[in-house]
Amino acid sequence: MSDLAIIENGAMVVEDGRIAAVGPASRVENLSLARGARELNVQGRVVMPGFVDCHTHLLYGAPRLDDFSMRLAGMDYEQIARSGGGILSTMQRVRAMTLHRLKAQAQRELYRMAGCGTTTVEAKSGYALEAQGELRCLRILQSLDGDPISVCPAFLGAHAVPPEYEGRADAWIDHLIEDLLPAVAAKKLARFADVYCDRNAFSLPQARRYLEAAQKLGFELRIHAAQFQDLGAAALAAEMGARSADHLEHLSRASVPVLARSQTIAVLLPGSVYFLGGSKYAPARALIEAGAAVALATDYNPGTSPVWNMQMILSLACTQMRMTSAEAITAATVNGAHVLGIGSRAGTLEAGKQADVLVLDASDYREISYYVGANLVALTVKSGKILRCPAEGERHGKTSG
Ligand code: NIG
Ligand code: FE
Repeated sequence: MSDLAIIENGAMVVEDGRIAAVGPASRVENLSLARGARELNVQGRVVMPGFVDCHTHLLYGAPRLDDFSMRLAGMDYEQIARSGGGILSTMQRVRAMTLHRLKAQAQRELYRMAGCGTTTVEAKSGYALEAQGELRCLRILQSLDGDPISVCPAFLGAHAVPPEYEGRADAWIDHLIEDLLPAVAAKKLARFADVYCDRNAFSLPQARRYLEAAQKLGFELRIHAAQFQDLGAAALAAEMGARSADHLEHLSRASVPVLARSQTIAVLLPGSVYFLGGSKYAPARALIEAGAAVALATDYNPGTSPVWNMQMILSLACTQMRMTSAEAITAATVNGAHVLGIGSRAGTLEAGKQADVLVLDASDYREISYYVGANLVALTVKSGKILRCPAEGERHGKTSG
């Protein structure tokens, strides 16, 4: 994770949205001249792969400012959820919103993310929690793919128990297994199935039952694990060959080698710890030193992590979890791509891959995790196209005027 394979005086040829060649400028520049390429001179600047943000709850309708006020008044995340805020308050809003407004919300965030250097984002459902609503959200996410960045939808019907099933979590899991998972699979609306396994969420046996059914239907697996308590969800992820176990703030010491020995990637989400005012970050160093693959993501959502800028996540990873600047870049690019099963086409600058490229207003890659709350991205290139990420007002006029 600490080897970035930096080319000091590098150049790259992009053709038809892909990287045709990359290497020392002395070699690659001649190649591009021969092909009559248009040149973009970015001398003195860091050029790197676009961020792959492999864990977000992108489609949520509106921020939860009342939750925020309650928390500033002293309540914690779980208390707020019990007193009418939390996931279920977003659920009510999302259910009531028009498709047009929901889509506009998510699309605005995609432009914000692109402007901060994200070129691929995973996006979960899980805020409708009823059949038609969940399918609607997944269809919206699918329709946003490529506009302006790649969107990989994930099904998170097992995010919370909806009010219609209050006190009957097992019946909700049954409904997901019998009706929703098969519908999502049949319509090919998501490649991944995710479950929130924690205290005050789904139990380990419920998570196992749900994931086994999902796996049989061909889904690849993700788990929200050990955000508040380690119920054994990370070990379950490893045992089942899940693509990832995410959060891991309260990961038990015994689960570290279990993850390290497995194919499962540890996805760390320090934005949620920061925003909830916590001090217990996931054990990044122990995981890396044990040989686990670690990825970083925003967990962008209205309740625990309203941050769309991956650069802020890199800052937190380094200052709070003692990852090195190089490890953080690996975690936020190629490792994220592997979580999403797209490592062969995204995540690094190599010939044959998508030209998802960032040009930074920086001359040393360590500046990304050094400056706090900054956006050093000068240019975001998605599949060879330079994105224009206009300021809020500008775009608003264009898209809905
Ligand atoms: O990853 N903890 C569960 N899910 C989200 C939060 C969702 C919300 O509060 O709206 C998370 O942190
Ligand atoms: Fe999450």
